[in-house]
Amino acid sequence: MFFDRIEAAPADPILGLTEAYKKDPRTDKANLGVGVYQNEEGKTVVLDCVKEAEKRLLVAETSKSYLPITGLPEFGLYARELVFGKDSELVSGGRAISCHCPGGTGALRIGCDFIHQQNLSTTIWISDPTWANHYQIATSAGLKFERYPYYDRVNHNLAFDKMMETLSQAKEGDVVLLHACCHNPTGIDPTHEQWIMIAKFLSEKKLLPFLDFAYQGMGHGLEEDAYGVRTIAKYNREFLVSSSFSKNFGLYSERSGVLTIVSSDVETSERVLSQVKIAIRTAISNPPAHGEKIVTTVLGDEHLRAKWEDELKAMRDRIKHMRAMLSEKLKASGAGDFDFIVKQNGMFSFSGLDKEQIEMLKTEYGIYAVGSGRICVAGLNAKNIDHVVNAITEVISKTKKK
Ligand code: LMR
Repeated sequence: MFFDRIEAAPADPILGLTEAYKKDPRTDKANLGVGVYQNEEGKTVVLDCVKEAEKRLLVAETSKSYLPITGLPEFGLYARELVFGKDSELVSGGRAISCHCPGGTGALRIGCDFIHQQNLSTTIWISDPTWANHYQIATSAGLKFERYPYYDRVNHNLAFDKMMETLSQAKEGDVVLLHACCHNPTGIDPTHEQWIMIAKFLSEKKLLPFLDFAYQGMGHGLEEDAYGVRTIAKYNREFLVSSSFSKNFGLYSERSGVLTIVSSDVETSERVLSQVKIAIRTAISNPPAHGEKIVTTVLGDEHLRAKWEDELKAMRDRIKHMRAMLSEKLKASGAGDFDFIVKQNGMFSFSGLDKEQIEMLKTEYGIYAVGSGRICVAGLNAKNIDHVVNAITEVISKTKKK
């Protein structure tokens, strides 16, 4: 027998929660685990601009033949416009190449594969805490990871000094993975001044920045959320960016991500592209088409683009409203001071609840959140928020008594 010795792996810390949530027969349950936007009705619906683009594609599409290995050129162009801004020389100057990868995860993986295959580095520095998948993406690509402290649990802030102190131990050539905005899971991002310091530091220390940009537009806005990446670009000639249309377009299942690699000159960039193509060819051959055609259709049409920006703003505003409600209601219920929730960016709130409290929320109240204490605020709505607040308040009081 070949497979007898295979040991059962634990469920995925995030996606496993959705599986468990779906099986839960309770009606007053809430899925605050996975980072997926839900509307006021608790539904993850297709954006109107996406529906419209799909209608057009259905009529216009004449072939399902393979796409180029790196995806459609105009898709890469639009992706770079969003990341760097319309007027940036990195959009079409030739120093940056973009490849369509399956989701932000695919972009991270192809980026790590490229780094490993080209012997660019052996070590990647990852924030602690971070998105649980980062560690296994890096290690399965053959990289070692080191952790740098990120979160000051007492003040609910960025542990900036500790982060920089730890990163100063990195060796020349090491990769530093940064969350470009809406840090997952803490929701705490560097300030503008801190981004400048980080960008200069990475350049001076000759470290290779890799920006995970999965949440553009979910924090403060498309332009505002790009501050970190654009600051890195200002001070660093070479870096990688993985971006994603899963959240801001709601295209979760279409796996539309982009790996962008910026080189110091056009000629180097061409060689980089030739090698990345091999990394993609060996991993996935070529990308799935539907998601990138949707994005290309929306971003290439003035009317659809405006609609998209409105829909994105509506998602962002609803999340902000839920943050405010959650913190107000927790205060009113006597759970404690949760003002810090409104300072956090993006889909998540790092609640400060511990593993035991999160487990109680699940078993006793049908509320699913990530073991680290991360709550997906985008899963809250007017109907479930009181149940959630009541559950958190009771769990805090029960665990205090012990
Ligand atoms: C999350 O952090 O919940 C999302 O990025 C979804 C995922 O793949 O984990």
